[in-house]
Amino acid sequence: MSFSIKNICCIGAGFVGGPTMALMAKKCSDLIFNVVDINKQRIDAWNNKDLSKLPIFEPGLEEIIEKTRNKNLFFSSDIECAIASADLIFISVNTPTKTKGLGAGKSSDLKWVEASARQVAKFAKGHTIVVEKSTLPVRTAEVIESILNSTDSNLIRDKKSFSVLSNPEFLAEGTAINDLENPDRVLIGGEDKQAMHLLSNIYRNWVPENKILFTNIWSSELAKLTSNAFLAQRISSINSISAICEVTGADIREVSRAIGLDTRIGSKFLDSGPGFGGSCFKKDILNLVYLAEFFGLEEVAKFWEEVVNINLWHQKRIAKIVVEKLFGTISQKKIIILGFAFKANTNDTRESAAIRICKDLIDEGAELIIHDPKVSPIQIEADLQIKPYITYNEKSKSFLNNNAGGWRYSKDLDIFDDSHAILVLTEWEEYKNIDWDDAAKKMASPAWIFDSRSIINLDLVKKSGINLWRLGDGSI
Ligand code: UDX
Ligand code: ADP
Repeated sequence: MSFSIKNICCIGAGFVGGPTMALMAKKCSDLIFNVVDINKQRIDAWNNKDLSKLPIFEPGLEEIIEKTRNKNLFFSSDIECAIASADLIFISVNTPTKTKGLGAGKSSDLKWVEASARQVAKFAKGHTIVVEKSTLPVRTAEVIESILNSTDSNLIRDKKSFSVLSNPEFLAEGTAINDLENPDRVLIGGEDKQAMHLLSNIYRNWVPENKILFTNIWSSELAKLTSNAFLAQRISSINSISAICEVTGADIREVSRAIGLDTRIGSKFLDSGPGFGGSCFKKDILNLVYLAEFFGLEEVAKFWEEVVNINLWHQKRIAKIVVEKLFGTISQKKIIILGFAFKANTNDTRESAAIRICKDLIDEGAELIIHDPKVSPIQIEADLQIKPYITYNEKSKSFLNNNAGGWRYSKDLDIFDDSHAILVLTEWEEYKNIDWDDAAKKMASPAWIFDSRSIINLDLVKKSGINLWRLGDGSI
């Protein structure tokens, strides 16, 4: 069968689908990329002339969109047409953890993947390569395959045929463009050698051949989950050691440096922080846990579940420390939250440590002022599920009523007046240059900075007279 790839469709215009297709379009100018989504608002945002209004913030993305959009990269809601004209379809839809039913709280909800597969089965024409891009539980390819091949009469009548491949994405948000441009490896899992070869040809436009790995489909799916589980486990390991540092007088930065120089361990991913967030780590580990339980591997399941449990414990630990340092009560105290995104250089807040920590502080009665350069107040409200305070009471000089905690948003950083504490939760560059002398004059006394990302200049804070707590630093 002579089959070549000219038209590519990506179902799902999210944090993975959008940047991945944009970079591919830049690297493969002879191919057409149609990115489709059921969310019309999201598609409109991708098509916005004002590039600062793209639905996701990712350094370097605007420049690529400017060069490729409406040339060989198209964003549209016409799912039927994009599928019908595609030789290869990436499925890049959301796969959150199930909230109810069998496997609730652990396994992934595949309803969006299933719906995509049904759309492909219905609208595809001729031979189509279907590629799993979303992170999926092991053996999802089987589900996709069985949906694609379940409409046998259609297949015969319309001469449809499908090859299913797994090609997990390893990009990290905030560095997505560089990760896509210079991947450590590209993983292609499958059985159909010709389809695997055709997919690898796309990557060979910019990825060296020795970085393209071929595996069977199950290894590919499991490798993605394992990769995220290992990375998350490193964060939980270093965060657990940070708690020991604080009580023993050790400093987690020194410990990280010392262990990272061991080439067997390596220096990356050893920054202690407020606990890992993001859409993948927790979800993927819980998928592993579910898989292990399903096959009766209780000990394996318990081992990985602990990585998630300790992450939550660690987030709660930070909120507790803030309360303890502020004399055991934060009721009606103004606390500044610097950063709400789950890491710097993204507007994504999924599973951000800030959500748990802010909720705990609000429960304790604090008045939070939340700043983040890229996260909108609407998103913060959706995450906290608490409405912001909007009416200022001149008499009590507070936004709060009835001793209840609450929050409001600020888009600038001139917010330190009368605050008791500043809590740094995301490592945005602009937080490194705050004038602490000036802040000290405005804050209540005694004032505290809680730095969970180790980005604040220790000497400048000491000079200003503000008290400093640094995660994992038992030496101050
Ligand atoms: C992760 C994987 O890195 C990526 O390969 C996969 O495709 C998707 O999941 P992402 O969630 O975007 O990417 O970001 P990542 O850089 O991995 O950070 C995850 C979390 O760990 C963040 O909350 C981050 O702040 C935290 N982290 C990371 C640390 O606390 N310390 C570190 O040293 C590194
Ligand atoms: P990720 O981080 O994995 O990219 P996102 O939630 O950012 O996840 O993006 C997934 C996108 O997939 C969403 O914009 C959602 O609207 C879209 N989507 C989900 N189901 C379908 C479907 N059946 N057809 C088209 N798009 C879909």
